[in-house]
Amino acid sequence: MKVEFYGHVRQYRNIQREIDANIQEVLLSGQYVMGPMLKRFEGELARYSGTQYAIGVGNGTDAIWLTLMALGIGPGDEVITHPNTFFATAEAIWIAGATAVFVDCDPRTKCIDPTKIEAAITPKTKAIIPVHLYGQCADMPAIKKIADKYKLRLIEDNAQAIGAHGNGFKIAELSDAATTSFIIQKNLGTFGDGGAVVTNDPEIDARVRKLRNHGSTQRNVHSFGFNSRLDDIHAGVLSAKLKHIDAWNDLRRKWAARYTAGLKDCRTIDLPVELPGYRHVYHLYVIETKKPEHRDKLLDFLVANNIDAKTHYSIAIHQQAGFPWGKGARIVGSVANAEKNAASCISLPMFPELTEEEVDYVIAKVKEWDKANG
Ligand SMILES: Cc1ncc(COP(=O)(O)O)c(C=O)c1O
Repeated sequence: MKVEFYGHVRQYRNIQREIDANIQEVLLSGQYVMGPMLKRFEGELARYSGTQYAIGVGNGTDAIWLTLMALGIGPGDEVITHPNTFFATAEAIWIAGATAVFVDCDPRTKCIDPTKIEAAITPKTKAIIPVHLYGQCADMPAIKKIADKYKLRLIEDNAQAIGAHGNGFKIAELSDAATTSFIIQKNLGTFGDGGAVVTNDPEIDARVRKLRNHGSTQRNVHSFGFNSRLDDIHAGVLSAKLKHIDAWNDLRRKWAARYTAGLKDCRTIDLPVELPGYRHVYHLYVIETKKPEHRDKLLDFLVANNIDAKTHYSIAIHQQAGFPWGKGARIVGSVANAEKNAASCISLPMFPELTEEEVDYVIAKVKEWDKANG
């Protein structure tokens, strides 16, 4: 049996008529950029997010740095995040001209550890960017307390957790804004790139809206800005898919529960931790080998058995040779949990359209390896 990592074509086939109808509507409207389909999707996304505003932008990276710029954060400022996230979280801070300051992650959830944040705050600190990593919310109430105490802005990098919530809080409820990515592999993904900012702050809405469109809200009138718009064809795809996101996330949760039940007795690996009261939407189902030296061996074994397992992310950001040290980043304290995560993570196939047979095959192969090596 072969088990893919993503199910893009299966998902498209399941709702092909709805997607094709929206794409055709855009094609026949003659309005492809900043047209009515984008407006419609932005309204739907704001309603879904429970926010006043949603602004479609070019991708999830732009969504972060456009929000930083909208908040006036740039050169000379510091922004706190954690290093075991996708490179783009820190890259966006750097693009805005600010310095990324890394603190460690929580060893259970892999999201930022709120107890590590205060030690990293300096007079230059302007914002915190928690990432809802793998599909589970960071501890926003604890992070919000710190942000309020030091008057810092809070931007949630929600590229991986659309549809998730915490214990008693929603995404974008406790922050200035939440950003997301619609690249195809995300829980809500288009056939290409896309992103969005959701917020309740009218100033952030107005500024991001202007910045994404050459600094313009009125024809021929411009200020400083960029080109980072969500195309109407992508908005049409996303509008069709948004109606299914809760059901798809439920399926992801079902496969995660099946993996967890099947793998709970394995002695060589740790399984994802789902916090009580949180809705984890399993963008990724990430196991960790207890011994880092086991990671590549188990990964190779799975791949040799036709299971398309991957790593997210095997090189933490501060370990990347390409990050602009000096001007662009600094670490505060030990980031040992993030480094352990990078050294030992394996993502098992996870998408709504998996089958029981596929999930059970993956479970059987992980158990086979565990038995031989435990
Ligand atoms: C946590 C995180 N932040 C930011 C991004 C950047 O999004 P994009 O690839 O759409 O620029 C991604 C995904 O790609 C991500 O996973």
